[in-house]
Amino acid sequence: MNVALEQVQVRLTDLRPTTDDITADVLAGLSRIPRRLPSKYFYDARGSALFEEITRQPEYYLTRVETRLLDARMQRIADAIGARAHVVEYGSGSGRKTERLLEGLDDPVAYTPIEISRATLLDTTARLARQFPRVEMLPVCADFTQPVDLPEPCRRPRTALVFFPGSTLGNFARGDAVALLAAMRQTMGAQGRALIGIDLDKDTATLEAAYNDAAGVTAAFTLNLLARLNREIGSDFDLDGFRHRAVYARERHRIETCLVSERAQVVHVAGRRFGFARGEQMLVEYSHKYTDPGFADLALAAGLRVSARWNDDDDRFGLRLLQAI
Ligand code: AVJ
Repeated sequence: MNVALEQVQVRLTDLRPTTDDITADVLAGLSRIPRRLPSKYFYDARGSALFEEITRQPEYYLTRVETRLLDARMQRIADAIGARAHVVEYGSGSGRKTERLLEGLDDPVAYTPIEISRATLLDTTARLARQFPRVEMLPVCADFTQPVDLPEPCRRPRTALVFFPGSTLGNFARGDAVALLAAMRQTMGAQGRALIGIDLDKDTATLEAAYNDAAGVTAAFTLNLLARLNREIGSDFDLDGFRHRAVYARERHRIETCLVSERAQVVHVAGRRFGFARGEQMLVEYSHKYTDPGFADLALAAGLRVSARWNDDDDRFGLRLLQAI
C-alpha cells in the first residue's frame, strides 16, 4: 500500500494483528497459571504516548543513557557496518535513536521499521522521510515476532543492519529471545550485523525505581493495557480493580511487572469468565537485565557472536554488535 503522508511517498506493508489475534492471545494468557497478558499490546496510540512519557521520567535512565552512548560511539559503529546498509528496526517507536543512526551511517540505502503501532509507525516514517530524502522508507506494520518478508529497496544494499535498541529484547522470555535473535540472523544474512541495546544488571533500588516512577506514568502505562483490551476485544476489566507492581527478581535477572487484583472479581472476555482472587497477580511484562556472559550465551544459542561491545562510563547500558558465527 502506498500512503501519501504530507507529500512524502512511503510504501507501507500492513500486517497488523486483527481483533481475533488479540482475543486468542489474551484467552491463552488468562488460561495459564499464573495468569498473564501479552506486553506487546501495550502499544496502542495512548500506550505509545505513555511510553514516550516514561522515557522522560528522571528514574527511567535507559533511553537517555542509550542515546548518549549511541552518539558517543557512532563513528565506530558506522565503520563496523560499512556503506549502503538496509537498516531494519524492530519496534521503532519514536525513531529518535534511528535519526542518529541514519545520520551517522555511510549512505544508508533504505529503512524498514517493523512496528505494531500503526500510528507511531506512520508518524515516525513521515518525519524520517523528510529528514532523510535519500533513504527509501519501507515501513512494515506487524508484530515483529512473526516472520516478515523484507520489502526490496530500489537501490541495491551492500549489507543489512538489524537495529534493536531500548533493551526491548528484555521483554522476551529466554526461549522467545533466542527465537527472535535467530530470526534476526536470517534477516541480516551471513555478512550483515545486528546492533542491540541491552540494559545491564545493577542494584535493585535503581532498577525498581525505573519501573515504579514517582509520577505514576509507568502505572498508567500498565493499566492502559486493560483499557485497550476493553475497547478492542470487548473485555470488562475494571481499571480501578487492578494495581501496577514491578519487582526485580534477581535470581531470574528480570523486572517482573504485574497487575495485582485489588479484590475478588470476575472478568469476562469473549464470553468466558475468569475469576481473580484478592491479591492475585497477573504477569504483564518481563524486562530482563544482562551480564556479559549471560548475553553472549543467549546470542550463541541463536548462532550469533558478539563482535563489538560498548557500555556507558557507569556500565548502566550496553550496545552489542552481533554477527553470524
Ligand atoms: C520497551 C523494553 C524499552 O522494558 O524497559 C518501560 C518497556 N515497560 N517501562 C522496558 C517499559 C515499563 C521498556 N522497553
